[in-house]
Amino acid sequence: MFWYHAATKHSYNSVRTNPNYLEWENQPSTYKIYPENYQRYRLDLDNAEDSFLYHIAGLTAKKSYPSGVYYLRINPSAGALYPNELYVQIRGVKGKEDGIYHFEVYSSSLTLLQKIDDTQGLEPYFGFMRAMRGYLFLVSAIYYRSSWKYKNRAFRYCLLDAGHLLGSIEAAALLKPHSVEMVYGIKRQKLNRIFGFNEEEWFLSGAVMADPVDLQAVEAIEFVLPYVNGSRSFERNKLIAQAYQESISPKGCVSQTKSPVFYYEKEKLLATLFRRRSQRGFHEGAITKEQFEYIARVLSEPILSDCDEEVAVYAVINRVIGMPLGLYRDGNYLFYGDFSQKAGYLSLEQYGLSQKGAVVFFLTSNAENYQSFYQKAGVIGHRLYIAADYLNIGCSGIGAYYDDEVNTFVGNDEMVLYALAVGK
Ligand SMILES: Cc1cc2nc3c(=O)[nH]c(=O)nc-3n(C[C@H](O)[C@H](O)[C@H](O)COP(=O)(O)O)c2cc1C
Repeated sequence: MFWYHAATKHSYNSVRTNPNYLEWENQPSTYKIYPENYQRYRLDLDNAEDSFLYHIAGLTAKKSYPSGVYYLRINPSAGALYPNELYVQIRGVKGKEDGIYHFEVYSSSLTLLQKIDDTQGLEPYFGFMRAMRGYLFLVSAIYYRSSWKYKNRAFRYCLLDAGHLLGSIEAAALLKPHSVEMVYGIKRQKLNRIFGFNEEEWFLSGAVMADPVDLQAVEAIEFVLPYVNGSRSFERNKLIAQAYQESISPKGCVSQTKSPVFYYEKEKLLATLFRRRSQRGFHEGAITKEQFEYIARVLSEPILSDCDEEVAVYAVINRVIGMPLGLYRDGNYLFYGDFSQKAGYLSLEQYGLSQKGAVVFFLTSNAENYQSFYQKAGVIGHRLYIAADYLNIGCSGIGAYYDDEVNTFVGNDEMVLYALAVGK
């Protein structure tokens, strides 16, 4: 077990002995904004390419609280703290200038950071020696946005949220005739340096939606961007910094080259991506066996990636018409019984989600590459959100659970990565 994971477990006692008082007026900013002199292109939803990009990480809801106005996004995020930033190299896409851009969520724009030409680009940092026509995405995390609230455990949420963003790219790409491959073997150290991240922001992954241009070799582009503060305030977290550094280079990776198959109708999927929200609680409504099987199939489809790690998916069946109650994995029952109360307790007593939900999922892994398998758990979580919402079933991620007690319940000693609940 990765030491960081062991050091950041929740237990019944730990959450009671470490109460966390937050001053919301001191919340770090959730937006990164480059200086005004950078060229910006506002995303136009009537333009197909812009609409595709907007459906990855655009703003989709506004909420007003006494402490201020908050915006929610296409992608979910633990505590709505949105630690991740998205960058993209665009090459050879009609109507777009070739270059490296920052996705500025605040203004729904692309900020041009660096122009590229036919001979240079980010490709070599992804492991490609030929020019790639299309989109090369990079996902980073400004971890203080999350560690401000979640302290040491925040690195887990940065990775899950990053996985959701990768899943968001995968889902938006279904609107186009392209598949998306996750790339965990990006050259993080070099990229962090040239993007001017100053140890406050780190790259976690890449995603490729592009095709090689025949015979066009490219060199790794060199530039140095200025440091831009993306959280207003910042406090270094030593434990998280060490965990990042020690998991920075994936080793012994096995790639997944088999493409997933989804059966989504495009218009309906488009609407689903736009209206996706997390459920704050369920009303003990049931789903059907067919709906559960549809969702289970989406979760078991392969995820294209250069470092595919094993992630186990357990399902606690609380309310599925046509299925017995119990703990289920890969098409088989491990135990029969009503575990709804137990599932509610395990997710830090969030009974409204896990007891009253129809199915609760627990994702675990004992694989090697922490950043790769944790983000994969986020991608699986995102697939669950989209498949459930597509069927008009509610979903919520659950990042808080009693780690060891989940292990005892499912009967393994792996790292518990994520819990999610679906229901009505
Ligand atoms: C990794 C992760 C963990 C989450 N954990 C919880 C949780 O423990 N309890 C909860 O009520 N919501 C949880 N959520 C849901 C977020 O609060 C929600 O995504 C966020 O407020 C944004 O709202 P939206 O998903 O409706 O856009 C989680 C979401 C993610 C992505």
